[in-house]
Amino acid sequence: MSDAPGATRAGSDGEALLEVRNLCKYFDNDGGMFGGISLDDEFPFVTRDGTNVRAVEDVSFDIKKGETLGLVGESGCGKSTLARTVLRLLEPTEGSVYFKGEDLATTSGEPLRRKRKDMQMIFQDPQSSLDPRMKVGPIVEEPMKAHGMLDDEGREARAKELLEKVGLDPQHYNRYPHAFSGGQRQRVNLARALSVNPDFIVCDEPVSALDVSIQAQVLNTMQDLQDEFDLTYLFIAHDLSVIRHISDRVAVMYLGQMVELADKAELFENPQHPYTQALLDAIPVPDPRSGGRTALLTGDVPSPIDPPSGCRFRTRCPSLIQPEAYDMTDAEWENAVEFQRAVKRRAFETTDRSALRRRYFDDAEPDGDAGERVDRALDRIAAEEWDAAERLLTESFADASVCAAEEPAYEVTPEFGDGRHYAACHRNREAAVAAGEDADLAGAADEPYAADAKADD
Ligand SMILES: Nc1ncnc2c1ncn2[C@@H]1O[C@H](COP(=O)(O)OP(=O)(O)OP(=O)(O)O)[C@@H](O)[C@H]1O
Ligand code: SF4
Ligand SMILES: [Mg+2]
Repeated sequence: MSDAPGATRAGSDGEALLEVRNLCKYFDNDGGMFGGISLDDEFPFVTRDGTNVRAVEDVSFDIKKGETLGLVGESGCGKSTLARTVLRLLEPTEGSVYFKGEDLATTSGEPLRRKRKDMQMIFQDPQSSLDPRMKVGPIVEEPMKAHGMLDDEGREARAKELLEKVGLDPQHYNRYPHAFSGGQRQRVNLARALSVNPDFIVCDEPVSALDVSIQAQVLNTMQDLQDEFDLTYLFIAHDLSVIRHISDRVAVMYLGQMVELADKAELFENPQHPYTQALLDAIPVPDPRSGGRTALLTGDVPSPIDPPSGCRFRTRCPSLIQPEAYDMTDAEWENAVEFQRAVKRRAFETTDRSALRRRYFDDAEPDGDAGERVDRALDRIAAEEWDAAERLLTESFADASVCAAEEPAYEVTPEFGDGRHYAACHRNREAAVAAGEDADLAGAADEPYAADAKADD
């Protein structure tokens, strides 16, 4: 599998604490009856009827010691599943996770339990992750107890010290969680995670439930703790401004796959994937007079049970690549794609050819073969044969694109900094060809990234 063309790969230079290779996590489509439990004997796990929710598919990346990798993507794209599978709280369907060089996917029992001490997780909801019946002190001490660390006195002293480190009062040791604000509860969670002296903390939306004014304070504390305790973070968030605040590098996920990964400055200043570009365009603009910008994307996210072939983003991509068979102008191609997607969504009711021409092709209508296909589709719509029109347009345009045929995976020359830049978009192959390079060599990221590999010269 490691040689699969188009595998999602995104690497880093430097010493890797965590190396994830070709990781897949599928859930049974019956609502996850087996989703949350470990099935060591059943690995790899495939359901009888073969309908799986492909929540994480062929994802590879490294996290360097001491860095924060931000992970962003819209709801349901697989961020939490990826994080839990990395920690092996969920059993991987396929792939490897090397933590300090040891493959977690093949570790189990007591050795896995010991490893877990080094890898902690903080969740979004600080309310429900703290047992309301327990005082804060015992909550912080719980993981130490589970791993047999220190005696009672030692644990109490360490818990009080950690409460202070995370910005709380050691006197809070005897209080119950309900006495705390959301931000303070998340600080208790931080103290608990730190109690067993981990190397790596997965933070799954840790500030998303907090007021914006509190978010920055908690993020700053997390950064201070990272320096003091030499921590490595995988930090999940929806919010790109939070990601920008905390991350060294940023990974973007879409429908179970990693579509772009680069140093923070490179990702924000030189985004290559149309999905990343759309996410960045959707960041609300702080000036209230501007009214904020909204996402440029139309259409629903496809089901992870039956994701699109080739590039998974292609059903919504504003930059879908025109099939080589045609010679449309950009405007003609964009209109053809918009029309095809509108027919697929049944976005209009009229069957009137002139009304549809005016609506979709007023400024630019394709001629030649493409124009003839549009004509035939309009005929089908006039005859109210919607399915036939949809099939014709999909075959002619959407499915004929290289975006439907091949999974993209490219390494891009960065403009900012010297870190690696991975982008899963065929537009990057076009750029490599235009630059006169061999597209296969320049673009396709076929070799698995070793943590200390240098970018190709
Ligand atoms: N136990 C499960 N059984 C079946 N499907 C699941 C299970 N857990 C998650 N999924 C599905 O896997 C996909 C990824 O879900 P996941 O929770 O990882 O997304 P996410 O990016 O963390 O979303 P959010 O931003 O809302 O937290 C979704 O389609 C979800 O419905
Ligand atoms: S590969 Fe094609 S569909 Fe996918 S992001 Fe690039 S242009 Fe869009
Ligand atoms: Mg989640």
